Amino acid sequence: MAYINENFLKLKAGYLFPEIARRVSSFQQQNPGQAARLIRCGIGDVTEALPAAAIKAMHEGVDELADRSTFKGYGPEQGYAFLREAIADNQYAGLGIAADEIFISDGSKCDTGNILDIFGKGNRIAITDPVYPVYVDTNVMAGNTGEADESGAYSGLTYLPCNASNGFVAVPPVEKVDIIYLCFPNNPTGAVASREQLTAWVNYALANDSIILFDSAYEAFIQDENLPRSIFEIPGAHRCAMEFRSFSKHGGFTGVRCAYTVIPKALVGCTSEGEKIPLHQLWSRRHSTKFNGASYPVQKAAAALFTSEGKQQVAELITHYMGNAALLREACLGVGLPVYGGENAPYVWVGCPPGTSSWEMFDKMLQQALVVITPGSGFGAGGEGWFRISAFNSRSNVEEVCRRITAMFPPHD
Ligand code: MLT
Repeated sequence: MAYINENFLKLKAGYLFPEIARRVSSFQQQNPGQAARLIRCGIGDVTEALPAAAIKAMHEGVDELADRSTFKGYGPEQGYAFLREAIADNQYAGLGIAADEIFISDGSKCDTGNILDIFGKGNRIAITDPVYPVYVDTNVMAGNTGEADESGAYSGLTYLPCNASNGFVAVPPVEKVDIIYLCFPNNPTGAVASREQLTAWVNYALANDSIILFDSAYEAFIQDENLPRSIFEIPGAHRCAMEFRSFSKHGGFTGVRCAYTVIPKALVGCTSEGEKIPLHQLWSRRHSTKFNGASYPVQKAAAALFTSEGKQQVAELITHYMGNAALLREACLGVGLPVYGGENAPYVWVGCPPGTSSWEMFDKMLQQALVVITPGSGFGAGGEGWFRISAFNSRSNVEEVCRRITAMFPPHD
């Protein structure tokens, strides 16, 4: 009989979002009359149609595939040059990132998980708490952790607490770690590190030979011009960081699938003998072996987001979702709950009423308001006592969610 990867047995329960979907579906079965009124603000999944520029480009891409003279089979595993160049020119202008340092993929979730292929065993890994669960679970699967304790914390990981007292931005640890996952704008808390805070991280990484895995999938939602959008805005980052970005949220591509990872050629790891090896070389090899590139019409559509019409349409989508976030913030503040995020990120991070746990709040919102949220504790023990509301929805649904939240907490006399 074949042996299994027993690390999978260390994973706690199911992956967060399927677990939420399971609970919602059970509620619907038990309350069929209520199902139509349910509003989903749980998983951060976009609701608005694709930008017209992307649709047009995707159609053109399909037409090319329909004609033998323009047909394309396998594309370059690292992505078509037209998209890599559009990203370098539009997203990294002046930041010293070349097109061939950008690897196109089918999603940042996959990239942030798959990146572990190029790292060895024995690295000390730091993650924030709360955190996007993919970073933790993929390390568990890769055998980089021990067992979880009762709070769900895995031995072998260094947890960096994020809470109201540090504005949900982790500070570098005192001890040395080898790999650090940072996500700004943050999923789930919506916090964004300032230039000074990010500089402290880059300086820490340079001093400790650490590598920062910087997830900036939500950078397009930053409204404050003073906040850094890329870690490569920070001097020295090219020698200690790689960056993950996605078209999912601002381009409406959650179902279309397209993302990219930026690995500067200056970024190195080392062998057990101490020889320095560029990570770019390893990721390129990994991509060529395990990936055959995102589909051609999808890459055409992604590149179209950088045309002037595409930029305008993306800006409209962002205005729509950030308008939703502002309404959700206002409604939660209005009923006296502590609120973070939602100003430079499409997630609003809300404190539960005193004495209510995150999953109790989830149940309450589901049963009393017919609104699906994400319990903060699903993102780690540090998220207990909080919940996340996603701003990805129609305006009318968000307005209705705000009314229902307000009705749940009637004012005291
Ligand atoms: C979330 O809701 O946290 C995101 O949709 C998850 C993801 O992007 O994979």
